[in-house]
Amino acid sequence: MRVMLIGGGGREHALAWKLAQSPLLTQLVVVPGNPGIAAEPKTKCLPGNVLDFVGLTKTARDEKIEFVVVGPDNPLAEGVVDHLEREGFRCFGPTKQAAELEWSKGFTKDLCAANNIPTARYRRFTDAGAARAYVAGHRMPVVIKADGLALGKGVIIAETRAEADDAIDEMFAGKFGDASRSVVVEEFMTGEEASFFALCDGTHALPLVAAQDHKRVGEGDTGPNTGGMGAYSPAPVMTQAMIDRTMAEIIHPTLVAMAKMGRPFKGVFYAGLMITDEGPKLIEYNARFGDPETQVLMMRLESDLLPALIAAREGTLNQVQLKWRAEAALTVAMAAKGYPGDVKKGSVIRGVESLAGDPAVKIFHAGTARNAQGELTANGGRVLNVTALGKDVREAQARAYAAVDRIDWPEGFCRRDIGWRALSR
Ligand code: AMP
Ligand code: GLY
Repeated sequence: MRVMLIGGGGREHALAWKLAQSPLLTQLVVVPGNPGIAAEPKTKCLPGNVLDFVGLTKTARDEKIEFVVVGPDNPLAEGVVDHLEREGFRCFGPTKQAAELEWSKGFTKDLCAANNIPTARYRRFTDAGAARAYVAGHRMPVVIKADGLALGKGVIIAETRAEADDAIDEMFAGKFGDASRSVVVEEFMTGEEASFFALCDGTHALPLVAAQDHKRVGEGDTGPNTGGMGAYSPAPVMTQAMIDRTMAEIIHPTLVAMAKMGRPFKGVFYAGLMITDEGPKLIEYNARFGDPETQVLMMRLESDLLPALIAAREGTLNQVQLKWRAEAALTVAMAAKGYPGDVKKGSVIRGVESLAGDPAVKIFHAGTARNAQGELTANGGRVLNVTALGKDVREAQARAYAAVDRIDWPEGFCRRDIGWRALSR
């Protein structure tokens, strides 16, 4: 089978690495991919813009593609699946209407309210005055969220009323463009966070394993939010009982509600959860695989990924069973100095190739390029995801950091404490 994968970050490298192992696969075409992806067997990268649907369709046609897998959120929110399916290509991923679970926080909150899905209490606003008046009577901290996609930056946890007012004013002044024309104000929840994933075919849901990521840039989970500085799986907080409750109280009701609304969800639910004293509560949905959670999920997945993604498209997920390794996986993001602020591109990274022999270690490329001399260079904020398996989180962590220490990249940095929550239990 000839498969096209859309995207070019660490998540897509992990998906490409796993798809390339499928006996069903004859050729994987990744648009635009990256140098790490290009080095996988049966895989080639072609240039292209993930939002240029006409270009993607042409590539799919030229390459005789039989199945498309979409990685990132933006093309899903813009309707890439609707477009490619109309052109005759079978896709893994939700339609634009089904992806609204990710691109409108207000839509998801209303869906939760209408279906008794546990989440933080909230109100939606389309003007600053009403939002400020509501916040005036609210307990602190309070959470202010831009409704739409804001690169993970549209969430402010305000400790004081003044901070909340400032956040509201900034959002309605257009800080996140169209994404903050509508704002959600919600109750602050306490507990431990987890990332939970379930494949869905519109009717059936198949739970994957859970993970935990580290969103803050600094050790001890301090400093500004990032796209994710590391992740590990399993997440000890997600016991089997908690997984069962999440499926019964959150995933299942969502799936049924979406089908009833005429927007059956096909793809992967990525539920950001807060595990509270009362049980799991939904923080938000994403309508795609997590980055960097996918890097640890793919390391742990023993079964072939491709038939499961096809079953999600075809409505036959009830016939799929996935096997997972008992081992833990942990990934450390190496980022360019300055991230999540401005970074310099082009610094040379050495030592990555020397790590290729160890089956317990895999370096996924997130933002790399090759310079004119063929050397590997940094080409973004998050650059490498150094990933390892181990008998437990501690061993996976030790192996990942041993690999990090063999990478020679003076212009990069990483957190040294990925996995601390699991290790301090
Ligand atoms: P989101 O983009 O919605 O995942 O939010 C980003 C981060 O903000 C989450 O990972 C949580 O750490 C935090 N957060 C969002 N909503 C809440 C909430 N209602 N209570 C506590 N923390 C929250
Ligand atoms: N792990 C954060 C994200 O994928 O949005």
